[in-house]
Amino acid sequence: MTTPIEPGAAVTGAYSRPLLQVEDLRMYFPITSGTLISRHVGDVKAVDGVSLSIKKGETVGLVGESGCGKSTVGRTILRLYEPTGGRIVVDGQDITHAGGKQLRAARRQMQMIFQDPYASLNPRMTAAGIVSEPLEIHGVGEPRARRERVRDLLGIVGLDPDYGDRFPHEFSGGQRQRIGVARALALHPDLIVADEPISALDVSIQAQIINLLEKLQDEFKLTYLFIAHDLSVVRHISDRIAVMYLGRLVEVTTARALYERPLHPYTVALLSAVPIPDPVIENRRQRIILAGDVPSPSNPPSGCHFHTRCWLRTRLGNPERCVAEAPVLRTMGTGHEVACHFAEEVDGSPEQGLQVKGAGPAPTSATGGGSGSGSAAAGPVPGGAAVSAVNPPAAPPARSSRKRERS
Ligand SMILES: Nc1ncnc2c1ncn2[C@@H]1O[C@H](COP(=O)(O)OP(=O)(O)O)[C@@H](O)[C@H]1O
Ligand code: SF4
Ligand SMILES: [Mg+2]
Repeated sequence: MTTPIEPGAAVTGAYSRPLLQVEDLRMYFPITSGTLISRHVGDVKAVDGVSLSIKKGETVGLVGESGCGKSTVGRTILRLYEPTGGRIVVDGQDITHAGGKQLRAARRQMQMIFQDPYASLNPRMTAAGIVSEPLEIHGVGEPRARRERVRDLLGIVGLDPDYGDRFPHEFSGGQRQRIGVARALALHPDLIVADEPISALDVSIQAQIINLLEKLQDEFKLTYLFIAHDLSVVRHISDRIAVMYLGRLVEVTTARALYERPLHPYTVALLSAVPIPDPVIENRRQRIILAGDVPSPSNPPSGCHFHTRCWLRTRLGNPERCVAEAPVLRTMGTGHEVACHFAEEVDGSPEQGLQVKGAGPAPTSATGGGSGSGSAAAGPVPGGAAVSAVNPPAAPPARSSRKRERS
């Protein structure tokens, strides 16, 4: 799938020049068979034609179920893998196949924060050693200056600089993630790929790390690609959100548009798992349960990869086009891209309305005095889609909106 680089919708507060441009990125992992002579028998198509651009100072959330290729996108952008195809341009420099000096320079500009602060920190190194390591690898400063910089960094992320000589196991989960953040900041990067940075943390700690990342973004003019497996986490931190399914982007738009007017059936299903902080709407809302797991990227379904699990296709009587033809990202409204042949059927549908606060069949009065359309929320989704009245997972950490926090 080849789509042109899309500069994205205008985003308040973000700078206009793209820092990162990714075009038709592909990352295939070869599958081999045979013990003595290994033969190439197929590929795991972890990333299969992703195009995305991120402006300076912008936060783009990348969301999708486990195994859909999010981490591989992040790692390939950082050139931890050699891309199978496509282009990666950072600050005007094509680094797709860069090596040597150019790759080292690019790596200084881009850093990663990992999901699991327990696994990603070397248990045999002190906190100061971990934060100092990138400075040493890149030969930045004299030992004394590096020590000072490490103390500064520990302070910036909210740790006591005197704790630098402690080992990872002496810190809590949240503190360990702060060490990971300090390490990522050491080389003054422009772009940070945060790969599910709060998924492994207690709910009570998650909001603290999100707030820290937002504070650092303002202070150091950082650009984030923020990876998450559900839509509850990225809502307030993201300017735009890209939804990924089985190696491809299926919807890209502003965070606001995604929550107010989701246009891809997969996004609608993901949104149905996000709790709404209004008990009246929340109680009558029903979840769209996607049957089974994400299919294997080594043998993806034909046409639209989502066709084996799509509630809209079922409702439309299983049109052949979904099986025969892969939908490309197309624009439906300013900066709103969606890859579904029948996205117009999602717009204004009961399923879309059910997931959007204040829209669709919800009553106008929170006291429950309203009559009429409320019953539609409790009724079956047309077309016999897999819907169950399972309650959504526990609410995410309560956070005020990003704009309000920044004031
Ligand atoms: N190094 C690798 N070698 C082979 N397959 C891989 C490798 N890394 C990831 N994959 C496969 O690529 C797919 C996408 O993985 P990943 O990017 O980790 O997904 P996500 O981060 O969305 O959970 C998965 O099927 C995974 O098993
Ligand atoms: S193209 Fe067909 S299968 Fe794919 S999301 Fe749209 S309706 Fe569903
Ligand atoms: Mg991952």
